[in-house]
Amino acid sequence: MKKSTSKTVKIQKKKSVLFVASEANPFVGTGGLADVIGSLPKALAKGKKYDVRVVVPLYKDFAFSKDELTFLGSFNVELSWRNQYCGVYEYNLEGVKFYFLDNEYYFLRDGLYGFYDDGERFAFFSKASLSLMRFLDFYPDVLHAHDWQSALAVIYLKTLYRYDYGYDKIKTVFTIHNIEYQGKYGKDVLGDVFGLSDEYYSSLEYDNSVNLLKGAMVYSDIVSTVSPTYASEIKYDYFSHGLSPIVSSVSHKTVGILNGIDQKLYNSALDKHLFSNYDETDLSGKKVCKKELQKMLGLPEKEDVPVIAMITRLVGHKGVDLLKCVVDDLLSENVQLVILGKGEKQYEEFFKKVQDEYSSKCRAVIAYNKDLSSKIYSGADIFLMPSKSEPCGLSQMIACRYGTIPVVRKTGGLADSITPYNVDRKGGNGFRFDTYNAHEMLYVLKDAIYTYGDKEVWNKLISCAMTTDFSWNKSAKEYEKLYKNLID
Ligand code: GLC
Repeated sequence: MKKSTSKTVKIQKKKSVLFVASEANPFVGTGGLADVIGSLPKALAKGKKYDVRVVVPLYKDFAFSKDELTFLGSFNVELSWRNQYCGVYEYNLEGVKFYFLDNEYYFLRDGLYGFYDDGERFAFFSKASLSLMRFLDFYPDVLHAHDWQSALAVIYLKTLYRYDYGYDKIKTVFTIHNIEYQGKYGKDVLGDVFGLSDEYYSSLEYDNSVNLLKGAMVYSDIVSTVSPTYASEIKYDYFSHGLSPIVSSVSHKTVGILNGIDQKLYNSALDKHLFSNYDETDLSGKKVCKKELQKMLGLPEKEDVPVIAMITRLVGHKGVDLLKCVVDDLLSENVQLVILGKGEKQYEEFFKKVQDEYSSKCRAVIAYNKDLSSKIYSGADIFLMPSKSEPCGLSQMIACRYGTIPVVRKTGGLADSITPYNVDRKGGNGFRFDTYNAHEMLYVLKDAIYTYGDKEVWNKLISCAMTTDFSWNKSAKEYEKLYKNLID
C-alpha cells in the first residue's frame, strides 16, 4: 500500500524591530546619533530578516515638507494629567518605514534640544511611540531605543504597559550613544510629568534624582553601547559620568557593537561637495581638493605642506584642551591647521585668536557646515581627533574614506576603528596616542608630519585608510544576532 505523506509547510513571519530615537538622517540631525539612525535600519532592512521601522519627532527643523510625507491619522497621548494630540506621518526610505510624530506645542521650536521642558517633550515622544504601536496594530518583536530622549519608551513598556495585549511580549534593546547625557530631573517630575507612581522611583533614582538613562539601563533586556572599548570603559568613573555602579550592575546584559557608516554617502568618488572626485587608485583629485581648499580659505597654496584638520564640536571631551596647550609648538612646524566647529565660547574665541596670530597657517571657521566639512575631509592630509572619551566617533571613519589620515587618542570607538601605523610601522590606517596628554599628542602628530614627508609610505597609508571596511555589514549582523537571541 502506498503511504500517504503530508508535508507541513512552516510559514515564518518576518521579525520586526522598531527604532525609537530623537533624530535620524536625512530628515533631521545634530550629530552622530542621526547618522546611525539614518543608516543602521537601512542596513538591517537590506538583510531581509527584519521588518525595520523608525519613529522620530516631527521637528520644525526638518529636511522635508509635510506635503512630502503621508499623513496616517492621529491619536491622543495621556501624560500624567495632560492629554496631547499626536499626528502620525510616514515616509518610506530604502526599505525602512519612518514615522514622524507631530505635536506643534512640543516640537515646532527652533532647535531640537535645550528647552526647559525637554523632559516633558521626550516623555511625550516616548509614550506616543508606544501608542503608535496600537494605532498601527504593529507590535514589534524588539523595541530598540536610543539615548536618554527615548529611555522612557523602554521604561513605560516595562512598567505601565507590561501586561497589555501586544506589548507584553516586546523585547527591548537600549543603546547608549554617550553616557554623559542622562536626562536627570527632580523627584517631583516622576508623577506630575512622567505619570509614574512612587513605586517606580527606586528603579529610576540615582543620586537623589530621577535619571532616565539609569531607568532604561535597569529595565532594558539588553544594554548596548556603540563600541566594545567604550562598553568596558564606562565601568570606570573616568568615563561614566557618575554611572559606573549602574554600568557594573548591568554588565551581564551589556554589549558593545561598533557603529558603521553609510559608505555610499561618505564616498570620495561620488561626493558632490568636493572640488574634484577621486578614489584610492588615482589620488590626483585629492591634490585638486587640497589646492582649492587652501585657496578658498586664503591659505598659501602649498602642495607639500601638510594640512591638519579638526572638524568637531568645540567641547571639552573632544580634546580641544590638548590642542590649545600645544598649538604654538604645532604651528612652529611647517604645517597648516584648519578648524571647523562650534561650541563653548572659550574655545571659539581661542581658535579665532590663533587664526589672527598665525594668519598664514591657521583658519578657524566657527560654524557647522556640511559643504565645507566635505571639502575639509577631502582637502586635508591629517585629521586630528584627540578625544578624552569617544563612544564611537564617526569623523575618523569619514576621514579615512577621504584618504585623510587620522591621528587619534586610543579611546572608545577610536581605539576600535583606527589601527596605528606608528606602533610597528607596518600596516595601519592612522596614528594613535594613549594618554590624555598634550605632549604625547604632539609627539605623535610630529611623527605623522614626518611620515607625510615620505610619499611612498604615506600613499600606502592612504590606500589602507580608504579601503578599510567601515560599512554596517558586520555590525548589522551583530545586531541581527542580538535580536534573534532575545526573540528566541
Ligand atoms: C554620540 C557619540 C559618538 C558616536 C555617536 C553615534 O554622538 O558621542 O561617539 O559616534 O553618538 O553613536
